[in-house]
Amino acid sequence: MASSTRLAAMLQAVMRGQPAALSDPHYPGWHLAPVTGLLNDPNGFIQFAGRFHLFYQWNALGCEHKHKCWGHWSSADLLHWQHEPVALMPDEEYDRSGCYSGSAVDNQGTLTLIYTGNVKYDDGSRTAWQCLAVQNAAGGFDKLGPVIALPQGYTGHVRDPKVWQHDGRWYMVLGAQDQRHQGKVLLLRSADLHHWESLGEIAGSGLNGLGDAGYMWECPDMFTLGDTTFLICCPQGIRREAQRYLNAHPSAWLAGDLDYDAARFTHGAFHELDAGFEFYAPQTTLTADGRRLLIGWMGVPDGEEMRQPTVAQGWIHQMTCVRELGTRDGRLLQRPATELQALRGAEQHYEGRADRAPALAAERLELLLTGQGGVTLDFAQTLLLTWHAEGLQLKRRSLESGEWESRYWRGAVSQLQILCDHSSVEIFINEGEGVMSSRYFPAHPAQLTLIGDAEVHARYWPLRRCMVE
Ligand code: FRU
Repeated sequence: MASSTRLAAMLQAVMRGQPAALSDPHYPGWHLAPVTGLLNDPNGFIQFAGRFHLFYQWNALGCEHKHKCWGHWSSADLLHWQHEPVALMPDEEYDRSGCYSGSAVDNQGTLTLIYTGNVKYDDGSRTAWQCLAVQNAAGGFDKLGPVIALPQGYTGHVRDPKVWQHDGRWYMVLGAQDQRHQGKVLLLRSADLHHWESLGEIAGSGLNGLGDAGYMWECPDMFTLGDTTFLICCPQGIRREAQRYLNAHPSAWLAGDLDYDAARFTHGAFHELDAGFEFYAPQTTLTADGRRLLIGWMGVPDGEEMRQPTVAQGWIHQMTCVRELGTRDGRLLQRPATELQALRGAEQHYEGRADRAPALAAERLELLLTGQGGVTLDFAQTLLLTWHAEGLQLKRRSLESGEWESRYWRGAVSQLQILCDHSSVEIFINEGEGVMSSRYFPAHPAQLTLIGDAEVHARYWPLRRCMVE
């Protein structure tokens, strides 16, 4: 499709679709979502020249996984976002089947994007290029073209470059599938972002003591917290366990140590990054004040996503809230970013038996609950969270079969911090030890009621709306 034709079609889609999307009661009140069409991965998350930038995989033309562009928002405070010019459209031979995920860096004052140009051929095969684009004076991006071709020994599934700087050089992790259909993460190095040297595989299926760990690892990200280096990735095809890795595709972290000279990553076991029903393709960035922030897609590919009722209103998916990462005893901790506290309205309290607590307006709510368990939280009879001595069980009905399905978090729970929006619930466990993120589609006004005779202590706040402008 010619660029101008695509742009005209996108503009028309937004003009026609936006009223239905924005007036949908399930459209988020304070999370980021597409004005129309489909949103998936967060891309290019960065604080650049004092402003946050968040790009996103976007199909403006419909709710299918097609025509991927990079939409672009920016914000001074992580709360008030504004629309920026669409950053990348699939209008070159090397990215014609989609400008796929990637990252952003500050290259000596120039905001620079590194993304995957995806090319699908009629015979079903595909290739991928890792490409550069730089910001222009109008706030849009000029493409500089591919800088990395498909490496030897891999299928066409090589994508999602995440780039960072270390000791004056650029490093990149890339998701990949080798010729034996094993998922891998590749490490590359460059002095100038244009010329890249391959340092080999640093993690993946069959490496570093991992057994079979899937056929493709998507969206890797690597960063250091304290003296631990974390690798985040989305390993597709890992085995489901009774209570873990139950989504169509999971997102996971590995903790260890990266030896840059030997290009070797020594790491421990896999951990699920989020135990809820919807979470995928997270990306992190380092802020000027030294915090490691993470944002994820509150969706999962290849599952029941197209059954979500918002598709009938012409939009689908939203981001998670922005989270702040920390570490304790080599584990990754996630908490809602401090900035989100500015959304809180007047604080209220409750102390006493759970089933005597007032029903809470769940539409936009933050709830801080402490206790010993023995409580079920009923979110509008659509999502049920049971807190018992061994952990949590989150239940909802499949949109496809109508059967109840569960997700789990195992371990003693002493505190829950729950963030609700119009069609999402994010549950933070024990000040960041675990998170469960899920979409749900309640009848509105949605209420949260507590069931059970256990004693609880609750602090809660209504949350303000915060729309993108
Ligand atoms: C993950 C993903 C990425 C890819 C992008 C395409 O959700 O499949 O691997 O770059 O989405 O939209």
